[in-house]
Amino acid sequence: MNIIRTVASLKKEVRYFQLDNQSIGFVPTMGFLHEGHVTLARKARKENDVVIMSIFVNPLQFGPNEDFERYPRDEARDTALAEEAGVDILFLPSVEEMYPDEPSVTLTVHKRTNALCGLARVGHFDGVATVVMKLFHLTEADRAYFGKKDAQQLAVIHGLVDSLNVPIEIVDVDTVREPDGLAKSSRNVYLLPEEREKAPAIYKALQLVAESIEAGETNIAHLKQKARRVLEEQTGAEIDYMEILSYPELESLDSVSGTIIAAAAVKYKNARLIDNLILPMKGSAPCFAQ
Ligand code: PAJ
Repeated sequence: MNIIRTVASLKKEVRYFQLDNQSIGFVPTMGFLHEGHVTLARKARKENDVVIMSIFVNPLQFGPNEDFERYPRDEARDTALAEEAGVDILFLPSVEEMYPDEPSVTLTVHKRTNALCGLARVGHFDGVATVVMKLFHLTEADRAYFGKKDAQQLAVIHGLVDSLNVPIEIVDVDTVREPDGLAKSSRNVYLLPEEREKAPAIYKALQLVAESIEAGETNIAHLKQKARRVLEEQTGAEIDYMEILSYPELESLDSVSGTIIAAAAVKYKNARLIDNLILPMKGSAPCFAQ
């Protein structure tokens, strides 16, 4: 595995792959890798000649009171995990390398942001779109791999690629979970032991939505109420949101139809966790396997 820290040397490698007609799969991350990231890399490995992974904690997508400074970092461990997953090029740029000056142009996302994490994290998805667009240009990848764990981000990336005709295929990858159902996240390390014990109830609340739909409930308000009760009674966390919306548009609904997302965000002492289930419907009948 080749570790690259500068834009110039990444471009050189990419040119070589292009000349050699090799397909490029790209996995953008912020590091502190876990099984979720590794799953994206393994899928990219299977589907492309070359795999590029980036690790870059992007200051543009963190608000002033968010965890940019204390976002977990472990380059040695990440390097070993990336190599094991079959990554060919690990791109590890510094902030100065990615943003040598204040950028004169950044992207603004107009749709799919006025809900869920977009409400509390103003400007977050603009920062994500801007860095992802830069990384797409730098890697010239054929395919890029994103997790459904960050379903709103995925919806925004699809919107970016469609709106700006970006010549890349976005591959959606299922959420990887701990055996007890908690979605893997770099931020899970910040959970206190008693919080870690209760956190799987986030997924339980989302599953209850799916089960209730399967049992015939179609009223969104009722479904949200049921899920919220589980979050309140079992997570021991402050609820940021518990929403059920259309997906990927993220618009409000009165009753289930089309593809919907059940999504939750909760705040523990040192970590804000998100999770979701994307549920396809045929009319108001579920067509998902639990
Ligand atoms: P990060 O949080 O490191 O996540 C990198 C990728 O891993 C994202 O596509 C995310 O959805 C995916 N991922 C995280 N946890 C996962 C899980 N449990 N199962 C499956 N996939 C999972 O998302 C970002 O970084 C950044 O916003 C980025 C896109 C790199 C732009 O800075």
